[in-house]
Amino acid sequence: MQSVEDDSEERLVSGHAQPDDQDLTLRPRRLDDFVGQPHVKENLSIGIQAARMRGDPLDHVVVYGPPGLGKTTLGHIIAQEMEVEIRVTSGPAIERAGDIAAILTGLQPGSVLFIDEIHRLPRMVEEVLYSAMEDFFLSWMVGKGLAARSVNLRINPFTLVGATTRFSLLSAPLRDRFGSVFRLDYYQPEDMRLIVERSAKIMEMEAEEEGLDEIAHRSRGTPRIANRLLKRTRDYALVMADNRVTGPVARDALDRLQVDERGLDQSDHRLLSSIINKFDGGPVGLETLAASMNEDTGTVMDVWEPYLIQLGFLDRTPRGRVATRLAYEYLGLPVQPHQRLDQARLSGF
Ligand SMILES: Nc1ncnc2c1ncn2[C@@H]1O[C@H](COP(=O)(O)OP(=O)(O)OP(=O)(O)O)[C@@H](O)[C@H]1O
Ligand SMILES: [Mg+2]
Repeated sequence: MQSVEDDSEERLVSGHAQPDDQDLTLRPRRLDDFVGQPHVKENLSIGIQAARMRGDPLDHVVVYGPPGLGKTTLGHIIAQEMEVEIRVTSGPAIERAGDIAAILTGLQPGSVLFIDEIHRLPRMVEEVLYSAMEDFFLSWMVGKGLAARSVNLRINPFTLVGATTRFSLLSAPLRDRFGSVFRLDYYQPEDMRLIVERSAKIMEMEAEEEGLDEIAHRSRGTPRIANRLLKRTRDYALVMADNRVTGPVARDALDRLQVDERGLDQSDHRLLSSIINKFDGGPVGLETLAASMNEDTGTVMDVWEPYLIQLGFLDRTPRGRVATRLAYEYLGLPVQPHQRLDQARLSGF
């Protein structure tokens, strides 16, 4: 059956990277340019300063959170602030123990090894990492049967920076070997405003306060989406409005892109309407909900739901997903009395 909507990867408001997001000029290079996430910044800054004062590499760091919030950016910033080389790879790219051994033995002293999607490392590879992270020592088996022998090798001290959208999938032994665990949250409105302003300046856009406010407001607390909406609005302003992003121009551009005032698109509306209309407001199981949307459960859980939960429009309860009173109000639908009771009970009142 044909999917009703485009693939979620193609959604304008998806936090996942898309081909035209590859604008490195917009990526902050120093910790000072990194807007928001004050706890992460402060702790990282202290860790970096201390490591530099001691002349040691920074302790291993894992950064997790929804797509587009700055995990990769932080990896690069750490290397830049420590003034060391960075080597970038990803969980699925490292298939065998020998692959990770080759990477680790090739690292310069103090380097940052950035592993994206670290939850997808094969178990054999993880096992090589344990002693490498702990003692900067490699130990792995080569060959099979009688010909099997273990290889032990000292490697240069390094900093592993892991990034993941699925922290819960990290194995406990790997998780325990990180000195710091940083969670990135959706950005506060005032931080989104600063990010949009910063990007507009770098892109030399002609923009008014009200226009930038509108874009910041509709970007789902996600810098990658803000940059994307900024570019689309800039195009619209060039073609339709004297190349100037005013409030009305931004509103018009974003309305046409079907991104509403809270940053929700057609897919979000469809998900909420589905719970409300087909399942009486919920609770509905994830699998049933995903099937009704013609989507897989992972995409619904990781891509569609987090922002709706953040807005308070959706609840994950032990019995399934529930559309909240706020969702009904936002969509202009009357809340049914039995749902009010049911939801109060589900939330433990
Ligand atoms: N704190 C920030 N301040 C300003 N811009 C930011 C910030 N964080 C991220 N950005 C912008 O958002 C873009 C996306 O960030 P980044 O690639 O680091 O996200 P990510 O968390 O690694 O996403 P993914 O999960 O898809 O790998 C960056 O290129 C940068 O332009
Ligand atoms: Mg990334």
